[in-house]
Amino acid sequence: MKFALKALAHYAESVRANGLRGTLENAAALMDDLRFDRIHGTETAQDVSLDALAVRGRNKHLGIGYTPTRVRAFHKLMAHLKPPLGGVFVDFGCGKGRILCAAAAYPFRRIVGIEFAPELAAICRTNVTVYSRSANPSADIVIIEGDAAEYRFTGDEEVIFLFNPFRPAVMAVVLGNLHRSLRVRHRVVQLIVSNPAGLAPVLAKDALLRKTDEYAYGSSRFFIYSNAPS
Ligand SMILES: C[S@@+](CC[C@H](N)C(=O)[O-])C[C@H]1O[C@@H](n2cnc3c(N)ncnc32)[C@H](O)[C@@H]1O
Repeated sequence: MKFALKALAHYAESVRANGLRGTLENAAALMDDLRFDRIHGTETAQDVSLDALAVRGRNKHLGIGYTPTRVRAFHKLMAHLKPPLGGVFVDFGCGKGRILCAAAAYPFRRIVGIEFAPELAAICRTNVTVYSRSANPSADIVIIEGDAAEYRFTGDEEVIFLFNPFRPAVMAVVLGNLHRSLRVRHRVVQLIVSNPAGLAPVLAKDALLRKTDEYAYGSSRFFIYSNAPS
């Protein structure tokens, strides 16, 4: 009885915050996440606080811990956006690699994940190996253990994904690096920020990117920025 009342209160709160449709979408997304790990033998669900991790480098205090993107919301977003799929996809702050695996369902030339917490990068490597065996052995997925601020753009990145991984100071460095890369090799990029929180004001001031779209599925909210001509 106590459990039923608690569950009811939880759903009433969710309907208040997300509407009935959003609540149903969240429930479907949660089921898909559980199914994702069960089918592929991965472990992507458990949140991890950065306090618990030995992060090397200068930016630990500017980082946000691991919480995965809902895999169903990601696929809905891709169907909505129809992004350029021939280029390279990069997830800045890839955590345990759920989105790297999900991105392998699309014909990206290469999928890159950058993660500065060695323990998460290790889990990510295992997840990608296990996932590739069960789902998509031909996907080219590269995991870089390091700080997003130190990522050297190779000039072919076209879809850049971030799920609110760090504070604006790190975002500003990443954007500066992206600008330099675009000056060397001009291309149209789409930068997708999930639940952007404090990053939206930095992006609003960016000289090259403008917000072109916004998409929500359940409580997952994605802001899309691009340098494509308007
Ligand atoms: C909210 S999680 C997102 C995980 C994954 N992108 C997803 O959507 O499922 C953010 C991740 O960014 C990582 N992170 C935070 N600051 C970072 C930095 N400066 N460089 C690389 N990774 C960072 C955290 O360790 C965490 O795993």
